Amino acid sequence: MKELDADEFKRLGHIAVELAAEHIYSMRDRPVFTPMTAGERSAILNSALPESGLLPSRVLDFVRDHVLTHPMGNGHPRFFGWANSSPSSMGVLSEFLAAAMNPSCAGGDHAAIYLERCVVRWLMELTRFPVQGSQGLLVSGGSMAALICLAAARQRALSRAGCDVRELGMSGTPPLVMYMSDQGHSSLLKAAGLLGIGHANVRVIPTGKDFRMDVDRLDAVITQDRKAGLTALCVCASAGTMNTGTLDPLRAIAEVCMRQQVWFHIDGALGGMAALDSSLPELSAMALSDSLSLDPHKWLGVPIECGVAMVRDQKRLRETFSLVPFDARLEAAEAQNWPAWFSEYGLEQTRGFRALKLWATLAHLGTEGLRLRIAQHRALARSLAASIAAEPALELLNQPELAIVCFRYVRIPEPSELRLRVFNQALAAQLQAEGEVFLTGVDLRPGCYALRVSIMHHATRSTDVTAMMSTLLKTAARLNEAAFSAM
Ligand SMILES: Cc1ncc(COP(=O)(O)O)c(C=O)c1O
Repeated sequence: MKELDADEFKRLGHIAVELAAEHIYSMRDRPVFTPMTAGERSAILNSALPESGLLPSRVLDFVRDHVLTHPMGNGHPRFFGWANSSPSSMGVLSEFLAAAMNPSCAGGDHAAIYLERCVVRWLMELTRFPVQGSQGLLVSGGSMAALICLAAARQRALSRAGCDVRELGMSGTPPLVMYMSDQGHSSLLKAAGLLGIGHANVRVIPTGKDFRMDVDRLDAVITQDRKAGLTALCVCASAGTMNTGTLDPLRAIAEVCMRQQVWFHIDGALGGMAALDSSLPELSAMALSDSLSLDPHKWLGVPIECGVAMVRDQKRLRETFSLVPFDARLEAAEAQNWPAWFSEYGLEQTRGFRALKLWATLAHLGTEGLRLRIAQHRALARSLAASIAAEPALELLNQPELAIVCFRYVRIPEPSELRLRVFNQALAAQLQAEGEVFLTGVDLRPGCYALRVSIMHHATRSTDVTAMMSTLLKTAARLNEAAFSAM
């Protein structure tokens, strides 16, 4: 089979490192985002598989000329879209080394397995999730982490009801209900669909003006469902909602779950990493959850894909996924003195070496570096919110708790909800296309569309946030003018 020899590997490796360095370190001098032309899309979409294979240097040329030229934008310090951060430099380098080793992390007795256990423990300690008796594993992202956690919750609920869901499926099982707030992430809904709970059996608990789950309502709905003979599967709370980065009242929800004997899952994809910040005491309630999902590929900047699923009861997670009979597992582990295989705790058999990029990022940052990054981003968000509140053309729509600020431009003629939506959507699209800054929008409430700034890039400074504000105001004024003159 055609492969590189060692000298060629090194020569091309240097070129690849140069390309990566150029890409990462000259980002500020380029537009945040450049829309692709039809020709540029087609050059990739319609390229044919070469019959005799390209020269390796031509492969890198193609990447340089057609791929690196059109990034998503999240490597840029003025990218404020969705929940996508810049990649950590140590993460980028270790992705390369992980690929060079290319182990399967299903299990076994090799360094990658121990590194994954180490880094999962670090994150448990960081979030105060119990280490003893629990189990965590790396997955592709927050959605997969939630699915793994909720599968374990379903396993507990149904085995308590005397049902063997793995053997017999969902037929004949008692009806299950799950609880999340109207600000909960769509991945929880997807998990409910996949696990046979059904979207119709997801109780959407309203949030107050502060976007936090109404805990009294939660308690009342669970009680009502119980009386109706339904089985309460789990409550999914947010340690940082996608829309506004709001923390649900986690401690109060934990108390409800304990009293009502319901599995308590926390979606910490967005804000779980902020546990180090002592000014966010609500996050200490992650210690009380039955399961926790995290997303180091968000705020921590670990190269995508990297999510973490943690389940307090290791045995429950194993019984959800393992196909190895209990006695055989014990014998195998004792005979070889190996840790149990990760593939017994999740969906994937052949698993990538995600641990190295996560380990390298955390080891390099240290807790101090992470604490500082979170504090800086939160401070930038607070100061942006203050500038928005002071600007009459803008309406501030949330008080940022983490590093997400929602607002809208309101100085338009006859500003109905519909007209505000149309104008602000056009504003976001215009800003994205012009490439000075990148932000996205969100439906905060039915009918209420907001522009959303998420600060996650390690190099974003107050000058970037100020530049974003001034570009936005100028672009909005221009759009307004164009709309007027068209009337
Ligand atoms: C709060 C929250 N939970 C879960 C997810 C899903 O995570 P992922 O996109 O990594 O699957 C997201 C993604 O943005 C999120 O913001």
